[in-house]
Parts: sequence; structure tokens; C-alpha cells
Amino acid sequence: MTAAIDVQQVEKMYRGKIHALRGVDMRVERGEVFGLLGPNGAGKSTLVKILMTVISPTKCQGTMLGKPIGHKATLANVGYLPEHHRFPEYLTGAQIVDYFGALAGTPRAERKRRIGEMLDLVGMGRWADTKIKQYSKGMRQRVGIAQAMINDPDLILMDEPTDGVDPVGRKDIRDVVRTIRDRGKTVLINSHLLSELEMVCDRVAIMVQGEVRQQGSLDDLTEPHRRYEVSFVGDDQSAAALLAGMEGVSVEAGIASIPTEDPNRIQPVIDCLRASQIVVKGVRAYRPSLEQLFLDAVGEDSGPGAGPNKHSRMHMEARP
Ligand SMILES: Nc1ncnc2c1ncn2[C@@H]1O[C@H](COP(=O)(O)OP(=O)(O)O)[C@@H](O)[C@H]1O
Ligand SMILES: [Mg+2]
Repeated sequence: MTAAIDVQQVEKMYRGKIHALRGVDMRVERGEVFGLLGPNGAGKSTLVKILMTVISPTKCQGTMLGKPIGHKATLANVGYLPEHHRFPEYLTGAQIVDYFGALAGTPRAERKRRIGEMLDLVGMGRWADTKIKQYSKGMRQRVGIAQAMINDPDLILMDEPTDGVDPVGRKDIRDVVRTIRDRGKTVLINSHLLSELEMVCDRVAIMVQGEVRQQGSLDDLTEPHRRYEVSFVGDDQSAAALLAGMEGVSVEAGIASIPTEDPNRIQPVIDCLRASQIVVKGVRAYRPSLEQLFLDAVGEDSGPGAGPNKHSRMHMEARP
């Protein structure tokens, strides 16, 4: 089967001057939760709007659900939760889902049956007949997911589903996303909230200034950076001299780094330091977080002259 989304060299120039996307390649497999991660202004929403044909690309090759990007009939099989959406406050959750179901061309009888089903799926069944104005932000987002699911799509695009939602509401949304995946759907989530994606996504792409800098599973992305760190008491120079013959070992600020995940390979380093009466303080297996990968990806730009405001800040949130 073809990928859910497979695009190459997507470019978007707004009004001939803002280069929002600079040749984006991204591939989302069927049945996975894929996270598109990047700071505000990176171009995430622009990419999703191109997929949904809300805006036209300057340049774009590729497919969604096996059809060329821009193929309108395919959209009947795609659900969309836009960013910053506003539902009419005077409608109830059930009326919203019904309204969007009608727009999506879902027949009335099927809508009737599916409204309750979808609201239950997102845990909003109890609130079906309550007006939107009474809802919290998290409840509005969950109803937004229910409306995106009303036409039983294979692929759901969610743009910042947890933005502005409190921690409990975010967990609810993550649980909904997992349920949707368990039903065999593909989900693409845009987010500038790092910890969010780490918890729910099978694979991620890190987008910075209109380019995808990294793409893969967290395991793939962290693999080249994993290492052991042995901290010691003493000066770097003598330790470095002792360890000079050992492949790949580097010493800095009282820490010897060994580029391996194999604990057997660190024993000779410890033995060598100990043999020269150097006190070993600690040993730890280092594996970068998504946050670290992201900072590295952004950091590639920050040469001389890159001020603190060059990039919008990414939200670094404590994990619950
Ligand atoms: N309609 C528009 N007209 C002009 N510039 C836009 C428009 N929409 C977005 N941009 C610009 O394109 C860039 C990417 O925006 P966007 O795709 O919204 O990023 P993200 O969703 O990652 O925050 C930003 O510099 C933004 O200001
Ligand atoms: Mg956005």
C-alpha cells in the first residue's frame, strides 16, 4: 500500500516574499501517529493547509492516500482539525458534529448514528447537548476531533490539538489519539509542544524555518547521539592522556564520553582511570531527549549574529 502522505520538495512563497516552506520532504506511513514538530512560524500549518487544499503550494510533488496532492475527492477520506478554530458558541457539541458531517456530505441517517459514537469516542458523550460556550478549551478540541472523524476518514490531520489546553485536557487528547490509531487510522499532529509528541508519536519530523531537519522514530533520531559518560575527579589533560589510545573516547569538563551503548566498552575506561588513582564519580547512559534533538536542529543556524530572538521559542514543558 502507498504511504498516507508522501511529499517531496514542497515550497510555499507567500505574496512573493515570505518563503514559508523551502523544499519539504515528508513521509507518513499508514497506521502511524506522526508528529510534525517545530517552533511557531516554522511552516507546519502551511504544510497542512497545502495538503488540505486550503492554500495552493508554490511547488509540490507527491501523494496523499495514493492520490496527487490537490485531488479534491481524496479529501472526503481525510479529517481536519484546523488551528485556532472557532465554533459558534450557541451550538451544542452534537450540533457542531452534525454541521460538519453535513458539510462533509455524510448522509443524514449515518450522521445521526455516528454523532453519538464519535462524541463517545472523544469522551464528550455526556456533554453532547451542552452549548459550546460552556466548554473548556480541551472539550472544544475534543469536539473538534469528533467533527474531524464524522466521515470515518482514514487519515486525520490535527493542527496544534493541545495548544492552550490544560495538562489534564492534554492527556485526554493523547488518549483519544491513541484510540484513533488503535482503530487503524493514520494521524498527523502538528505541535510546538515537545513533550506532547514524545509521548504519543511513532515517528516525528523536526521542522525549522521551512525545512525538515530530521525525520524518523525517536529511536532512529537519538541513536547516533547515545553514549556513556564517566565523570571523574581530576584534570582533563591527564585523563585525556591516559585514555588517548581508546577509540572514540573524548574528555571534557571532568567527563569522559564513550560513543557506545555497550556497557562492556566502558569498563576499560574505568579500569584505566582507576589504575592511575583517578576517582570515578559517576557513570551514566546518555540518550538525548526530543528536546535536545530539537535544540540541536535549531542550533545549526545560530552562528555569529544569531540573536536570542532569531527563533521563536519552543515550549519546553516538564513531563507530567
Ligand atoms: N497567509 C499568510 N500570508 C503571509 N505569510 C504567512 C501567511 N500564513 C503564514 N505566513 C508566514 O509563513 C510562515 C510559516 O507560518 P505557519 O505555517 O503558520 O507556521 P507554524 O504553523 O509552524 O507556526 C511564518 O513566517 C508566517 O508568518
Ligand atoms: Mg501553526
